[in-house]
Amino acid sequence: MSNKTFTMIKPDATQKGYTGAILDQIIKGGFSIKALKWTKLTKEQAGAFYAVHSERPFYGELVDFMSSAPIIAAILEKDNAVADFRTLIGATNPADAAEGTIRKNFAASIGENAVHGSDSDENAEIEGNFFFSQLERF
Ligand code: CMP
Repeated sequence: MSNKTFTMIKPDATQKGYTGAILDQIIKGGFSIKALKWTKLTKEQAGAFYAVHSERPFYGELVDFMSSAPIIAAILEKDNAVADFRTLIGATNPADAAEGTIRKNFAASIGENAVHGSDSDENAEIEGNFFFSQLERF
């Protein structure tokens, strides 16, 4: 089991001024930051990042949203990182997210749901590599 996961703070959350509060909750949740950047995805980059969802009905909306404003991308480290981070952020749909989770606290809807968290060790590796070179990890 890997001790790394990958996250993004999504455009809805960065635009509402939640970046600091979300990073604070992540760090207080026991995750340490291995890599971090403020960036903005082009439509092409968002489409490539979410290529696994290209057949889903919400793909176009997802790509437009994820390229609409800046995001934070980060690689996080903790024992059992992927599963523990998914617990910290809560269900994809904030309406189903547990009390106190990041999505319960900060997300508006299933599409604009404040944060991304990798769903497997393999995807954490792929997603981290999408944003960060080895020289950007400490
Ligand atoms: P994320 O975990 O980043 O990965 C895929 C994203 O697709 C997911 O978060 C949601 O933001 C989005 N998504 C999933 N289901 C829907 C849906 N029914 N409508 C719009 N967006 C969705």
